[in-house]
Amino acid sequence: MSSRDHHVFSVEKARHLMRPLRYLFHNPKSILKSYVKYGMTVVELGCGPGFFTPAAARLVGETGKVIAVDIQQGMLDLLKERLLGSGLEKRVVLHKCGENSLGIAEKADLLFAFHVVHELPDHDSFFKEARRILKTGGILFISEPKHHVGEKDFSDMIDIAGKYGFVAAKSPRILFDRSIVLRKQA
Ligand SMILES: C[S@@+](CC[C@H](N)C(=O)[O-])C[C@H]1O[C@@H](n2cnc3c(N)ncnc32)[C@H](O)[C@@H]1O
Repeated sequence: MSSRDHHVFSVEKARHLMRPLRYLFHNPKSILKSYVKYGMTVVELGCGPGFFTPAAARLVGETGKVIAVDIQQGMLDLLKERLLGSGLEKRVVLHKCGENSLGIAEKADLLFAFHVVHELPDHDSFFKEARRILKTGGILFISEPKHHVGEKDFSDMIDIAGKYGFVAAKSPRILFDRSIVLRKQA
């Protein structure tokens, strides 16, 4: 277990995650479109109120699926409201996970974790779970806010990912963030 502060973002502040200004530097479609393809199964860890979820659901199309996972039921309730009437409800499965276990049996093409890994209590457990649920060759996309995660902590996290068979494939440029795309090796 790490000694990092893994404070969980509160449901009461969820509206800050949905502020319109955020679309200027975290445009969901621009961030996702290189990785999310038609028919994919995407797991979105720490989905919160769903800033990214509708864009992911549009990109996977009618034959794909987004499993939106959060530890807080309040966040999943907000996401459910957001999806109402969008026509995307059937493509999104809402799933409440445990602190260190995803509780998903399905195999995924992409695990998308945006501003969540620093909130997880144990990175070893996270990468072990990521390895378990991703298909071989599957993608793990991680983006962390620079104001919460320093360069050394980010690089230590990538080292842990390496222990579980993930190799760095790309470093996407996202303003104010440290981001990495890792691929699961056989
Ligand atoms: C800072 S918010 C980011 C939400 C969303 N990814 C976004 O960028 O708008 C972090 C989210 O991760 C969730 N979270 C924290 N710890 C978690 C855990 N152990 N497992 C799953 N979700 C967790 C929180 O409930 C919160 O919704």
